[in-house]
Amino acid sequence: MAVIQTNKSAMLYSEANQYTPGGVHTSIRNVDPHLIFTTADGAYIYDADGNRYIDYQAAFGPFVLGHRHPYVTEKVIEAIQRTDLFGVGTTDLEIRLSEKICRHVPSADMVLFCNSGSEATYHAIRLSRAVTGRRKLIKFQGCYHGWHDYVARNMLSAPDMIGKRDPGSAGMMDEAVDNTLVCTFNDLDDVEQTFKANPGEIAALIVEPIQHNIGCVLPQPGFLQGLRELCTQYGALLIFDEVITGFRHDIGGFQKVAGITPDLTTMGKAMANGFPIAAVAGKQSLMERFNTKPGGDVWFAGTYNGHAVGTAASIATLEMMERHNVHEYIFRLGERMRQGIRDIHQRLGIKAYVAGFGSVWTTYFLENEPRNYTDLMQNDAELYVAYRRKLLERGIFKLPMNIKRNHISFSHTEEDIDYTLQCIEDVLKELKESRG
Ligand SMILES: Cc1ncc(COP(=O)(O)O)c(C=O)c1O
Repeated sequence: MAVIQTNKSAMLYSEANQYTPGGVHTSIRNVDPHLIFTTADGAYIYDADGNRYIDYQAAFGPFVLGHRHPYVTEKVIEAIQRTDLFGVGTTDLEIRLSEKICRHVPSADMVLFCNSGSEATYHAIRLSRAVTGRRKLIKFQGCYHGWHDYVARNMLSAPDMIGKRDPGSAGMMDEAVDNTLVCTFNDLDDVEQTFKANPGEIAALIVEPIQHNIGCVLPQPGFLQGLRELCTQYGALLIFDEVITGFRHDIGGFQKVAGITPDLTTMGKAMANGFPIAAVAGKQSLMERFNTKPGGDVWFAGTYNGHAVGTAASIATLEMMERHNVHEYIFRLGERMRQGIRDIHQRLGIKAYVAGFGSVWTTYFLENEPRNYTDLMQNDAELYVAYRRKLLERGIFKLPMNIKRNHISFSHTEEDIDYTLQCIEDVLKELKESRG
């Protein structure tokens, strides 16, 4: 078994704890082992002790091209040698990026930029309430849409809290928690009953079109179409939260793949290959309610909105997708990975389900395709994390945490996939032997 040196990471982690609660700046980053990464390059990341890992965590998904992609870096440097932020009017970079997004994303007649996915979902929901004059929101158990009070409930709920009142944080406003209703993914009857039980009260339904925050739970045929129809029927806005799926699965988002057009779309992550920018987009009649247009009555603001770094990075990322077969390549490698893992399972007689779409995959240790968060309670969480820890010891970085997804980028090579498959086979053999 491989053993990695982590002394320098441990020292830095201990120092970080002196200044920062838990030593990390996002709660989900506090994972064991506490590796501190210092260098990133394409498909690889290096920790403070010099260990190299093939990175499939991809910082939760932004790196669709790979870390420090040369073209994106070049365009960002070019931009910041000329410009930064003015806080008045617009910029050539904002206009160029807006044009691209409106051209590629089916639901985007108009777009506005902000800095994080949480801001984008907040704006989309507040706009929905303003437009409909209604208060309630529907989300799905297991979906994550950011940290704010409107949506931070029923995310990774404990088994006994599934579907129940499960706020994600102390200090949340009761009114916000109680006006967010929770449904079961892939269950259109549940959604319809919820609309019926709250007549004229639901402003919007927000959904990750693929449940990537719990790995990869796919919408069953007809589910997204059914949501579209129910929202239209009951006068609610349909919000696709494409913060993960947007640009990773298609330059037009998963809505383009699925052929379903929501009223509003939120985007982030892969939009700028790791640089901070996010967006909310939608129909012109809705977007013009934002007070960026004189007379608009829905507040939209942010000191750093449209900063040159994020906009230049996003233009460069989308240009890469326009000019190269980025998706074809990462989808091919994704399929090779999934098939390779299935073959290994068959060879070793392991019962597991390899889920995925395009460049994203995960192996659940359960027998059948999961259709919702409840189904994932069958996953062997202990094995799931042990498997990831053992891969980490071999230089494969997947977040050692239950029901997390993995990402392939344009920088990963066939050799990376082959090496990963070899490690997966070795690790599964080892785990099989040790667990009898
Ligand atoms: C689907 C989805 N929406 C929204 C967010 C929030 O984005 P951010 O962390 O940039 O605020 C995330 C973050 O993981 C996400 O996965």
